Amino acid sequence: MMRSLLLALSRRLWVRDAMVRLPVTGSVVRRFVAGETVAEALPVIAGLVAKGLTVTVDHLGEDTVVAAQADATAAAYLDLLRTIEAHDLAGSVEVSLKLSALGQFLPVYGEETALRNARTICAEAARIGTTVTIDMEDHTTIDSTLGLVDQLRADHPWVGAVLQSSLRRTVNDCRRLAYPGSRIRLCKGAYASPPEVAFDSPQQVSLSYVRCLRALLDGDAYPMAATHDPRLIEIWERLVADREPGTYEFQMLYGIRPLEQERLAALGHTVRVYVPYGTDWYGYFIRRLAERPANLAFFLRSLVGRG
Ligand code: FDA
Repeated sequence: MMRSLLLALSRRLWVRDAMVRLPVTGSVVRRFVAGETVAEALPVIAGLVAKGLTVTVDHLGEDTVVAAQADATAAAYLDLLRTIEAHDLAGSVEVSLKLSALGQFLPVYGEETALRNARTICAEAARIGTTVTIDMEDHTTIDSTLGLVDQLRADHPWVGAVLQSSLRRTVNDCRRLAYPGSRIRLCKGAYASPPEVAFDSPQQVSLSYVRCLRALLDGDAYPMAATHDPRLIEIWERLVADREPGTYEFQMLYGIRPLEQERLAALGHTVRVYVPYGTDWYGYFIRRLAERPANLAFFLRSLVGRG
């Protein structure tokens, strides 16, 4: 109930405008967001790499309805990639992006605009020697997003896709996309979806997660298990026990279970941390609050404390 309410609020512009003006918000947001600029995010990224972790960086933004904004987001990614190159981080740091931030849902030529922008970013990533993974947004966007991923993979087979185990369709998407080399990040899914398309109990979502992991391994994809769930991490450790390091990944979000990230890396696994930065952090932040009631309680206590 609370989760659904928060996820609904994540798309309300007036709530966003009120919230970003609260003085306390910034410090709470910094637990999950590395900064507002590349310069602020860079020490965080370099610090994670120094600990033996790998990173995927997200320039925050979503649901763009203005073409100039989509082009500005693409330009921000080019700047980010050049910064990664200049600091010699391309071996450990890739980027993640949302097609809706690149124009996918513009009223006119949306998919064409997103594809053009994503191609430009992929070409720059290829030039510096790193990869790009395309985030997955709410369930209504999946066919469009996977269609665009297919087109991007025609030029750049290393382009990664994200699939969400909370959705009933996903095990079939895993089977279709589980071909050798196919980079798939599997997460539970952070968006609200109706019961016709999504499982409604956490147990079903976890069972689906394990079925999806098995499908990815059966097809010899490059599987990237993106979860902080201790039980699923334990299962993933067992499933990959016989695989060569470097043929799979563990992935987690910046600010969540950092000690577990380091523990897995110390065992020789590739662990990738998703590091978001930028001024458009509102939707991302609300999804993190929605995942855990304790986060919301902490945020509310901070507000009262300042009051
Ligand atoms: P679950 O929510 O059950 O959490 C398990 C445990 O992890 C909790 O008990 C707690 O200890 C810890 N935890 C989880 N979330 C926390 C939080 N916010 N704060 C504090 N502790 C927390 N989703 C999506 O729809 N599209 C996408 O493209 C992506 N991309 C993505 C990339 C990567 C690298 C990750 C790790 C996750 C995503 N997600 C995502 C988000 C994902 O769908 C999911 O919402 C979160 O990872 C939380 O789910 P868990 O699997 O961690 O389980």
